[in-house]
Amino acid sequence: MTSPTELDTGLPLDMIIFGGMGDLAMRKLLPALYMAYLHGNLPASTRILSTGRQAFDRSAYLAHVEEHSRGFIAGANFNEQTWNGFLQLLVYVPLDVQEAADFNALAQASRAGAQRVFYLSTAPALFIAICDKLADAGLVDRNARVVLEKPLGRDLASAVDINEAVGRHFAESQIYRIDHYLGKETVQNLMVLRFGNSILEPLWRAPNISSVQITVAEEVGVGSRAGFYDGTGAMRDMVQNHLLQLLCIVAMEPPTSLTPDAVRDEKLKVLRSLRRFRLADIARDTVRGQYVRGVSGNQEVPGYLEERNVPPGSKTETFVALRAHVDTWRWSKVPFYLRTGKRMARRSSKIVVEFANPPFPLFPETPGGVANRLVIELQPEEAIKLQIMAKQPGTGMQMQQVELNLDLQSAFQQRRAEAYERLLIDVVRGRLTHFMRRDELEAAWEWADPIINGWGTLDEKPHAYAAGSWGPAEAFALLARDGFSWIE
Ligand code: BG6
Repeated sequence: MTSPTELDTGLPLDMIIFGGMGDLAMRKLLPALYMAYLHGNLPASTRILSTGRQAFDRSAYLAHVEEHSRGFIAGANFNEQTWNGFLQLLVYVPLDVQEAADFNALAQASRAGAQRVFYLSTAPALFIAICDKLADAGLVDRNARVVLEKPLGRDLASAVDINEAVGRHFAESQIYRIDHYLGKETVQNLMVLRFGNSILEPLWRAPNISSVQITVAEEVGVGSRAGFYDGTGAMRDMVQNHLLQLLCIVAMEPPTSLTPDAVRDEKLKVLRSLRRFRLADIARDTVRGQYVRGVSGNQEVPGYLEERNVPPGSKTETFVALRAHVDTWRWSKVPFYLRTGKRMARRSSKIVVEFANPPFPLFPETPGGVANRLVIELQPEEAIKLQIMAKQPGTGMQMQQVELNLDLQSAFQQRRAEAYERLLIDVVRGRLTHFMRRDELEAAWEWADPIINGWGTLDEKPHAYAAGSWGPAEAFALLARDGFSWIE
């Protein structure tokens, strides 16, 4: 619980959500704000203004929130009285982002002199119009903050356009480009693991590390989001942001402090060091996949092409695996294998750091294999495991792999806040460290664009993989070729 003074900026807080009736607002933002309210992490003066195109009055809006949002608060955290108190903070403002008059109405609804946080969770194509009209309506001042949901644009050019337009009205220090992976407890803990300990750092480089794997596997399919997803695909939806951010934290040099720019400077260096893909590299080092009918969670589930709103013959990828390189002294010749997909065998996000084997095989009784791995499990449970070799009890000198397993669940009994809750609190407190800076985001697109364009040029169908599997066979071949394999 934070003391009220730490939150007290002296200004009333108006949190204004664009896309306030949308899926993200209902599933994530309102539940996260409820949790922040429950734990005393919102200033007492907070009001949440949700905007949407529906011509709802307040009671119709509240009924919608009851029906579509309340269920996303875990039972143990739900308290009727607190919920009713939270609902008191909510205001609904009908708004069409093309209508200047609606922004004037919003200006009337927002308190004069309030600190305004604008949360833009609409399609990114609307961000420019929204920022221009907010400024025209006199809603942007130097206390204002704007949160931009991902994906920010669909390529470098559109991201630059958005950044330019937003930058006309907001200083960089007022812009919070969100990547919710940076709000995950486990991802923040990666920074502590790397930079709060000294034992890993001397080993954290080539040639001691032979490869790094980053997997973000989802069990869910595209669900009701095909309208968005089909024009996006796994590369833009997951790799360009979430997976690259994980890669940055694994690969970055130690920052000089935890200030936003110190951390973001180091991540930017990693993004700029990512080797660019030429067409031949794309054909060799990337794998696109699309799920077909299969069994997930003991149920037969449809393939991507059979999902609602997916156009017939769509070539959108629901799976990507690729081999990347960070061209620096530290990571010279170390492959970074990235993999993500929907409808995979189970939800599992992990980073596997594979260490080089001892230079000389002293124990010939044991067949070869990777001796040491550090496995950092991010979801569904947090765990850090170090795989090492131990002697098998007996008269010989046979080795066997054993695991040092850090049990973080029992080491820390505290509640773990959800990513959106933590990041929204950061926005309210003006902490930018866990948000992306403009140059970082653009550097990520600079790397991703040639891959996406190259796929367009090659114009191949994605490889089929059965729902409920670990992806297409080609993704396994990608590692096998280098003598590695995915660790499930
Ligand atoms: C979002 C993507 O950014 O992240 C979704 O748009 C994806 O497609 C989600 O399902 C995954 O987030 P998490 O926190 O469930 O791993």
